[in-house]
This record gives sequence, C-alpha cells and structure tokens, in this order.
Amino acid sequence: MSLVDLVDLQVLGDERGQLVVLEAQKNVPFDIKRVYFLMGTRPGVSRGFHAHRELLQAAICVSGQCRMLMNDGLKIEEVILNSSSKAIFIDKMIWHEMHDFSSDCVLLVLASDFYNEQDYIRDYSEFIGLLNRA
Ligand code: TYD
Repeated sequence: MSLVDLVDLQVLGDERGQLVVLEAQKNVPFDIKRVYFLMGTRPGVSRGFHAHRELLQAAICVSGQCRMLMNDGLKIEEVILNSSSKAIFIDKMIWHEMHDFSSDCVLLVLASDFYNEQDYIRDYSEFIGLLNRA
C-alpha cells in the first residue's frame, strides 16, 4: 500500500471565487481536535523529522509548495504538495519530513488530538526500535 494517501477535495466555487470544505469523518478520516498551520518557513529549512504514536493528521498546502517525505520504516515515499484541493493523510507511526518550502508556503494541518509532546517520537532510531517491537 502506498504511504502517500492523497484525497481530492471538492472545490466549490462560483464567479466570486473558490471554497474548499474539510469535514470530520467525511473527507477527513477522524474527528478534528486541533488545527495549525506552518508558514514563513525560512529558505533551506526542513521541518517535521518525527512520527506520532497515536495522532492522525491531514495536511493541505493551501499556498505555495513543499515536499513531504513519508517513511514507515520499510519504505520511503515523497510527494510535492502544491495543491489546495488535495489533502495528504499522515497516519500514526509514519516518520515524516517536510522539505523545499516555497517562501509563500502555508501548510494547514488538521489533527485528531490536542498537542501532546509525549505523543512525539523525535528520535529516528527510537522510531525504528518501536516498529521492530510491534
Ligand atoms: P514542531 O512539532 O517541532 O514543528 P515542526 O516539526 O513542524 O517543525 O513544533 C514547533 C513548536 O511548536 C514546538 O515548540 C512545539 C510547538 N507546538 C505547539 O505548542 N502546539 C502544536 O500544536 C504544535 C504542532 C507545535
């Protein structure tokens, strides 16, 4: 199964412009407890470099572009996020990194739970160790 799970979001619009809707348990496969966005990422800076023990997330690049790398410990897949009408699902226990942010990139992220540093695995060897133990 592909690690890159992109969902097409319907773009509603009329002569006034466009509108995209994200709804829990409809086009987002979990209940949304938190929304945050990454913006103003400095040139050459990469972000992420962690996995989550339980958290589910969906990310939408609503402006600009970046490159998302996903790693399940067995394979690595990358995708350029450059469409405000595509959401990428980030499952639990997926090591993810974001690279090559354009200066105008705004990455909107929906999360299934509140911020909890205990849910983060920020050490890659710990991530691999936890997978091997599972
Ligand atoms: P971090 O997860 O390290 O961002 P990234 O991996 O995208 O570079 O988060 C950056 C900082 O923001 C860190 O100090 C934790 C804090 N933070 C919150 O307080 N709440 C949140 O919901 C998130 C996502 C981060």
